[in-house]
Amino acid sequence: MNLLKAENISKSFGGLKAINDVSFEVRKAEILALIGPNGAGKTTLLNLITNFIKPDKGHVVFCDQSIDGKPRHTIVKLGIARTFQTLTVFENLTAADNIIIGHSARTGLDLGSIWNVTAYHKKRQEKKESFSKVLYDLIEFVNLNKKYINWPVNELSIIDKKRVAIACALASEPKLLLLDEPLAGLNQTEAQEILDLMRKTKAAGTSILLIDHNLEAVMSVSDRVMVLNFGEFVCEGTPSEIICHKKVREVYLGE
Ligand SMILES: Nc1ncnc2c1ncn2[C@@H]1O[C@H](COP(=O)(O)OP(=O)(O)OP(=O)(O)O)[C@@H](O)[C@H]1O
Ligand SMILES: [Mg+2]
Repeated sequence: MNLLKAENISKSFGGLKAINDVSFEVRKAEILALIGPNGAGKTTLLNLITNFIKPDKGHVVFCDQSIDGKPRHTIVKLGIARTFQTLTVFENLTAADNIIIGHSARTGLDLGSIWNVTAYHKKRQEKKESFSKVLYDLIEFVNLNKKYINWPVNELSIIDKKRVAIACALASEPKLLLLDEPLAGLNQTEAQEILDLMRKTKAAGTSILLIDHNLEAVMSVSDRVMVLNFGEFVCEGTPSEIICHKKVREVYLGE
């Protein structure tokens, strides 16, 4: 069953066709990988889905409703969360605060109402207790050491920052998580940890649209793979179909 369906999406920047008439779907409970050489249009496609930029043409339907032109906060509330190619976290805030911000994107709870318990208020106290559970469950889910919970994120290692960024996205309880190069800058052991986190996320019911250049890792984790080149759809299939696909060899090896 489809979770997201993108139809005939096009986007040009001046004379450059960054995305040219691309259609695809993300199914429920799957990891769909989006691969292609540098400049293929992968990030642009994520930016179009999440309304960071507007398409020239095309439609996106999510959970059977059009999300064309919807504000980004509405898209998050409907169930699409993302991370960014350039690691984007609130560097001067703590890991906990980053996760609260992700959670508040869906619930509307603000930082003050969660943490300020000096003036006792029963409802506020209940909210804080229920949020504390969400927070600690997520910290455990992404395998972040609890000792870092109140550390400013700029003092954490890259893998821990990535854990925080993913926890922040997951805190909005998405049905679809968009990950743009989550393995970049990680060593092999760390990359395996993030791959395991993706498998756990999928097992918990969240679909993933994954962009990454680490093709071995991508093939090991995804159910389907879609290939883009120069903004054009090239092909789509299971990892084993894509590995030996003639067109993919042309794109990557110039054969
Ligand atoms: N805001 C923009 N203004 C002008 N050109 C842009 C803009 N965003 C992207 N492009 C161009 O569109 C093309 C696709 O870029 P995009 O970032 O989507 O590629 P990508 O597949 O994510 O590449 P990479 O693997 O290097 O991240 C590139 O030629 C890029 O220079
Ligand atoms: Mg990119």
